[in-house]
Amino acid sequence: KVLARSRPYYPTPKGGWVPSWQDSYAQAAKLVEAMDVTEKVNLTTGIGWSMGPCVGNTGSTKKIGSLCLQDGPAGIRFADDITAFPAGITVAATWSKYHMYARGKALGAEARAKGVNVILGPCIGPLGRFPVGGRNWEAFGSDPYLQGVAAGITIEAIQSEGVIATAKHYIGNEQERFRQVPESHLMGWPNVTESISANIGDRTLHELYLWPFAEAVHAGVGAIMCSYNQVNNSYACQNSYLLNGVLKDELGFQGFVMSDWLAHHSGVASALAGMDMSMPGDAQLFLDGETYWGPHLTESIVNKTLPIERLDDMALRIVATWIQMGQHKDFPEVSFSSWTKQRDGLVYQGTLMGPVDVVNDFVDVRANHSAVAQDIAAEGIVLLKNFNNSALPLNDTRLPRAIMIFGSDAGPSPFGPNGCIDRGCNNGTLGQGWGSGSVEYTYQITPLEAIQARLLGKRGAKRPIVEYSLNDYDLVRASRLAETPGAKCFVFVSADSGEAYINSEGNMGDRNDLFLWHNGDALIATVAAKCNDTVVVIHSVGPVVMENWIDNPNVTAVLMAHLPAAESGSSLTNILWGDIPPSGHLPYTIGKSLEDYGPSGDILREPNGLMPQDDFTDGLDIDYRYFDANGIEPRFEFGFGLSYTTFEYGNLTIKNVYNGNLTSELPPPPDKLAVPNLKSQVPSPDSVVFPPDFNNLRNYHYPYLTRAQAAAVSAMLKSDNKTEYPYPPGWNNAPGNTPPGGGGEGGHPALYDVLFHVDVDVKNTGSMPGKTVPQLYVSFPSGISLYTPARQLRGFEKVGVGPGESVTVGFDVRRKDVSVWDEIGTKGWYIPVAKGAKVGEGFTFWVGQSSRRGGVE
Ligand code: NOJ
Repeated sequence: KVLARSRPYYPTPKGGWVPSWQDSYAQAAKLVEAMDVTEKVNLTTGIGWSMGPCVGNTGSTKKIGSLCLQDGPAGIRFADDITAFPAGITVAATWSKYHMYARGKALGAEARAKGVNVILGPCIGPLGRFPVGGRNWEAFGSDPYLQGVAAGITIEAIQSEGVIATAKHYIGNEQERFRQVPESHLMGWPNVTESISANIGDRTLHELYLWPFAEAVHAGVGAIMCSYNQVNNSYACQNSYLLNGVLKDELGFQGFVMSDWLAHHSGVASALAGMDMSMPGDAQLFLDGETYWGPHLTESIVNKTLPIERLDDMALRIVATWIQMGQHKDFPEVSFSSWTKQRDGLVYQGTLMGPVDVVNDFVDVRANHSAVAQDIAAEGIVLLKNFNNSALPLNDTRLPRAIMIFGSDAGPSPFGPNGCIDRGCNNGTLGQGWGSGSVEYTYQITPLEAIQARLLGKRGAKRPIVEYSLNDYDLVRASRLAETPGAKCFVFVSADSGEAYINSEGNMGDRNDLFLWHNGDALIATVAAKCNDTVVVIHSVGPVVMENWIDNPNVTAVLMAHLPAAESGSSLTNILWGDIPPSGHLPYTIGKSLEDYGPSGDILREPNGLMPQDDFTDGLDIDYRYFDANGIEPRFEFGFGLSYTTFEYGNLTIKNVYNGNLTSELPPPPDKLAVPNLKSQVPSPDSVVFPPDFNNLRNYHYPYLTRAQAAAVSAMLKSDNKTEYPYPPGWNNAPGNTPPGGGGEGGHPALYDVLFHVDVDVKNTGSMPGKTVPQLYVSFPSGISLYTPARQLRGFEKVGVGPGESVTVGFDVRRKDVSVWDEIGTKGWYIPVAKGAKVGEGFTFWVGQSSRRGGVE
C-alpha cells in the first residue's frame, strides 16, 4: 500500500504583511532587534513541565518576561476562584452568537485577571467526525460552519480582553487513541512506533477540517496549537505544507504556532516547517530534562543549520502577537500556581528544589460570571421530546402530586465535584468531560439540589412529595418509587468522554460506544414501565443511542442537557419551569446506532500498522451530510430542537447584493505589505554560552550552550565547510508568490465578500413566548461536475418571538459559502457553475428549524 504523503512547502512565510498587524510588527521589530539569540530562543521554548506557574511557561526576556500559557477552552484550569463555564458542545447547542460572545468575554476577563497571557482555547478540532470522539465536547459540534462561527466569536471576545486566544488542535486530531506513542504503549499497543496519521485530501481539508481554523485566523487569532497526530504521514507540528503553506501563506496567519504538549518531534525540521514555540519545552516525556529546541535551537543558529531569519520570525510573531493584544501596556502578573492550592509553594515546582514563595494570591476573578454560565447552560439544553407539547414546562400552580428523581446523574458525587483529577471519573451529576479541557469547580449546583430549592417555598398541600433513588443499579427500589400514584418521574442519565491520558470506566478517551453509561437504558425502562410521566434528562458529551426507550409512550419528555458545568441544576430548573424557554438545538446528529454514521463513523480501534493509518475516505460526508447522502433516517437530525411553542417560517427572499462582476474563480490576490527586515548577524558560538557562575535548576530548559558545546561548534565550523547543511528543497529568501486562495487574514479577502442576502419571516404560532433558530442551508446547483453534500449549513440566528408575533431574520451569504476547493487544478476556491448557467445561478437556499424540518426554500 502506498502511504499518503504530504508535500514540502518552504520557506516559512514571514509575519507582518497584513495591514491590521503592521503596527504591532513594527513595534515588535524594535524589541526583537534589541534581543540576542538566547533571548529570542527563550521566547520559543518552554522552560519545562511544571517549572513555572502555568501549564506552559516560556523562557524570559528582559522586556517581556515569561509568558503564561494556560488551559483551557471552558475556564482557567488548575486555578482557584474561577468559573467553570459550560463546555464548547453546550455553547454550540445554544446556537446563540450572543452567548458565544458572552462566554468568551467572561473567560477572557478571568484569564487576564489571573495573569494568563495565552489561553489554550477555543478547541475547534476535533470537528466531530466520530460521534464517539473523546474530545468533541470541548469543541463546537460536527459542522464546520457552526464551529467556525463559534470559533470566530469566541476568539474576538477573548482577545477583546487583551488575552491571546489559541485555536487548537491543528489538525485532524479526530480521535484520541494512538495520538501519542507513549500513550499507545500504556494503553496496550506496545508495537506502535508513530502517532496515528490522519490522511486527508485537500478538498476535504479545506471544506471541512480547515474551515473553522480559517474563520479563527480571519478573526485575528493570536496563536494556533499544532496537534499530536500526523497528517498524511508528517507530524502536524513539522508538516511544512500545513504550517508554512496552508496556515501562514494561504490563510495569512500572523500569530505564532505552538506545539501541543510533547507534540514536538524534531529540532531544525520543525523550525523550518513553520513551528514557532515548543511546549512545554520537554522532548519526549514531561520533565525528561531534554528539549528539541532551547540550547539546540541556539546551536542550530550558531552552526548555521537554521537561518537566523527563521528565528527572528519566530520571535517577531510571538512579540507582535503580545503587542497586538495590548499586553505591552499593562498586564497583570500571574497570581496562581497550577501545582498547589496553598498560598506558599515551590517557585520552580518541577525541579523539586529551589526557592519557596507565595505562589497563590487567591485573586477572585468570578465577577457576575455565574449568571453568564447559568444562562448559557440553559440555552444549551435541547428539548428532544415533549408529549402533546405539555409534559413540560412544570407549572407552579399545578405541580404533580409527587416528584420522583432517579439516577446518580441527578445528585452529588460522593467524592465531591473535584473528586477525580481533571474530572477523570463520572460520579454524581456530569458537568464536564475529562482532560485538560476541564476546570476545577468552585461549586456545583446539582439537579437534585436545584429542584429541591425550587420547591422550598411550597408548603402543605402545595408541596409535592419528593423522593429519590440515586443508585443506578437498584432497579427494585427505582421500580417501587416509580409506582407512586400521580408521580412525575425524572430520570438522570449520562455519557462521558475525554482526553486519552485518563481511562474512565474502560473508555480510553474516546467512548467505547454510544450507549448511556451506568445502566442508563435499564434505569429508564424500569421507571417508565411504572411511571406514565417519565422525563429523561441526559448529560452527555455528544449523541447517545436512545432506541431502547425513546418511543416508549411513558417517556413523555426528553432533554439533552449537554455539559452545563457549575450551574447544572439551576440552568435545568430554568428550563423545566419555563423561566427560560428551551431553545437549544443539536450541534450533531443523533443516529439510531453507531453503524448508522457510516463505515468511517467509528474511530480506528486497533492499529493497522506500526504507524496507524486513518484514511478519511468519508470525505465531505460526515454527520448529517452522510445521513442525507445515504438516505438514513436519524433519530434526531442535526439542528433539531423543540420549544414550548411552535414556529412557522415563510416568505423567503433572496437578494443579489454583489456589485462587481462575479467570476467563478477568485480575482488575483492583493499584494502583501513589506515585512520587517531585521538584518540579524549570526553570533559566534562562544557568545551564547551560560553566563559565568550560573546556577542551573534541574531539568529546566535554558537557551545557552556549555563552554564545551560552544567549543565543539567552533571547531566544526573551522574544520569543515560542509557543516552548512542544505535547506529543504524550495527554501529561499525570496517572498513567495501568494497562493491562489491567499492574500489576507483567513485567506483571500474576496472569499468574505457578501454575494446574497436571504430574508425569512419567522412566526410564533403557539401560545408561549419562545426562541427559534432559523438555519440557512445551501444546496449547490444541479448539473455541476463534482459532488457536493445535499445540504450544508451556511447561516443561523437565534431570535426570541412572542406568541402570534412575526419577525424577519436575515442572512448574509459570502463567496466562500458557495465555493468549493479545487484540489486538482488551480488549488483554490471557485464557485461551481452548471453548463449554460451564469456564475452564482442555481443555488438553493433553504431555511429550516433543523437540517430537515420546518423549512422554506
Ligand atoms: C494536551 C492537550 O491536547 C491540549 O489541548 C492542552 O492544551 C495541553 N495538553 C496542555 O495542557
